[in-house]
Amino acid sequence: MSSNESLANLLKEERRFAPPEELAAAANVTAEAYEQAAADRLEFWAAQADRLTWSTKPTETLDWSNPPFAKWFADGKLNVTYNCVDRHVEAGHGDRVALHFEGEPGDARTITYAQLKDEVSRAANALTELGVTAGDRVAIYLPMIPEAVIAMLACARIGAPHSVVFGGFSADALATRIGDADARVVITADGGYRRGKPSALKPAVDEALTKPGTEGVRSVLVVRRTGQETAWAEGRDVWWHDLVPRQSDQHTPQAFDAEHPLFILYTSGTTGKPKGILHTTGGYLTQASYTHHAVFDLKPETDVFWCTADIGWVTGHSYIVYGPLSNGATQVLYEGTPDSPHQGRWWEIIQKYGVTILYTAPTAIRTYMKWGEDIPAKFDLSSLRLLGSVGEPINPEAWVWYRKHIGADRTPIVDTWWQTETGAMMISPLPGLTTTKPGSAQTPLPGIAATVIDDEGNEVPNGSGGYLVLTEPWPSMLRTIWGDDQRYLDTYWSRFENRYFAGDGAKKDEDGDIWLLGRVDDVMLVSGHNISTTEVESALVSHPKVAEAAVVGASDPTTGQAIAAFVILRGSATEDENLVEELRTHVAKQLGPIAKPKRILPVAELPKTRSGKIMRRLLRDVAENRQLGDVTTLTDSTVMDLIQSKLPAAP
Ligand code: WT7
Repeated sequence: MSSNESLANLLKEERRFAPPEELAAAANVTAEAYEQAAADRLEFWAAQADRLTWSTKPTETLDWSNPPFAKWFADGKLNVTYNCVDRHVEAGHGDRVALHFEGEPGDARTITYAQLKDEVSRAANALTELGVTAGDRVAIYLPMIPEAVIAMLACARIGAPHSVVFGGFSADALATRIGDADARVVITADGGYRRGKPSALKPAVDEALTKPGTEGVRSVLVVRRTGQETAWAEGRDVWWHDLVPRQSDQHTPQAFDAEHPLFILYTSGTTGKPKGILHTTGGYLTQASYTHHAVFDLKPETDVFWCTADIGWVTGHSYIVYGPLSNGATQVLYEGTPDSPHQGRWWEIIQKYGVTILYTAPTAIRTYMKWGEDIPAKFDLSSLRLLGSVGEPINPEAWVWYRKHIGADRTPIVDTWWQTETGAMMISPLPGLTTTKPGSAQTPLPGIAATVIDDEGNEVPNGSGGYLVLTEPWPSMLRTIWGDDQRYLDTYWSRFENRYFAGDGAKKDEDGDIWLLGRVDDVMLVSGHNISTTEVESALVSHPKVAEAAVVGASDPTTGQAIAAFVILRGSATEDENLVEELRTHVAKQLGPIAKPKRILPVAELPKTRSGKIMRRLLRDVAENRQLGDVTTLTDSTVMDLIQSKLPAAP
């Protein structure tokens, strides 16, 4: 197989959407940004660092003398929380709403920037009273409530790196993360509301702290959210409401070095123990702030921004906490699930708060497609002016559905490619500038250098596929894997010399725009052709009866691998023999006979990680009649039983 052929390039998507004139005319970022960055990348980033308030302005931009260990703005000093809170109050915006909090049971709280400053100052004083000092790690295991944001900002304010652990993770997962970071304090809650009922969190902390490796934890700070019965360890556990409100609301932020650690965030990876991705202060905040301003075209006086991610993922870190707050945004923070108490909850929230910018994931969009467009149609979504997507390749049909049924065929969509490791967005259209193509993240942002290369490391020509790499360091890049520099080198920098290997397949189209094709591990090899799971899935989703699809390559004696597809049908569609045949023919028509799935199985649900990514590895196990691998990171492990029960008995 020639390298140009690596990763098939089959799908033709011809639809184009120009930016609305009004948005283009007033856009935060224009073509000039690309020109400036192309002329001098480092000067461009130095100029973006000026968005922040530094106590000591940096004179150095990038120190790359010991690659791949980067230092950005190394002689500068700043306080992240001052940048996210205090400076907006000092600039006279204290009365602006920072957070519109909506609890799942329907309780709501409005927090202005002035109130946020008081709350964060009290929490910072409280952590200091618990003995937390700069450099100590703090684990945060909270539901999506304002205290999660306050706790992160309080940590940043005193220079204590936080490690947020998603509230849906088990006691074991929590223990591993507490142990690896050697946390001193855990901030948690009695519970949170999920699917219409209280769901306990504190018992998982209690259990985690019985496990070896967690002995460094001295205190557990507990927010009362649900009021459920909670076991108590005297001398270790402290109620937030006993400790925090009695603190002074005055707290002087201290300036930290630009390379001071800001947070650790664990990514599971496919094998081995989770990787603690380390992000630092000045470069991270510069890029989180700039990309939020540029890609969402944020107008802090008038926009209401809503990122639906959980604070336990990097999306929540960069686009609920650090990006939006550094830009003085007004935001919605929602605690619960999209279907509690009804399937229109998100659209009701958009109507209630007049949300103008929505940032969500393809998995959510496809779920809403499955539930049907009559649900969003019941609400007034006319405040929306911009939509974003992140987390997975978005199927062109889901993109078009999103624009039509949520964006009234009017709003641009920004499909933003990035990773926990990149810290902030890397590849995305700019809403006032880019003529968008459904399914493509398109262009590296100003100041970002990304390309697609083949097995030998040569850049592929337009029209070909290969591996996505980043060819220059960027301000919000991970600095290492916590406690494991070697793993940092091995995972990201050893496959191709001097280039960061993202682990994603991608292709460049005839215009040089980038299309993401999914994780390289998921690519299928059928009769000598590399075929991307993403493209076959998108072809299936382009059939009117399919809401969602997951495709895997199962070993096959004649073709090497054969394509097996699992599909979720849209609302009213019913499965029968003819439908399966119709879908196979549809894919063959869209992509060519080589991509025609050998088997298609309609299912009710697909196995997903807690951040919404399809776990193809488990579907491969099913398709190859193997015992299932590790299912502990699944949202719902019964999904696999359901899928297996639909299969003919193993031979
Ligand atoms: C992986 C990173 C970035 C925040 C959420 C996920 C996939 C992410 C896109 C996109 C295609 C995407 C990639 C990437 N991904 N955004 N717009 N188009 N794929 O963070 O859990 O670190 O996952 O998500 O495969 O490598 P993460």
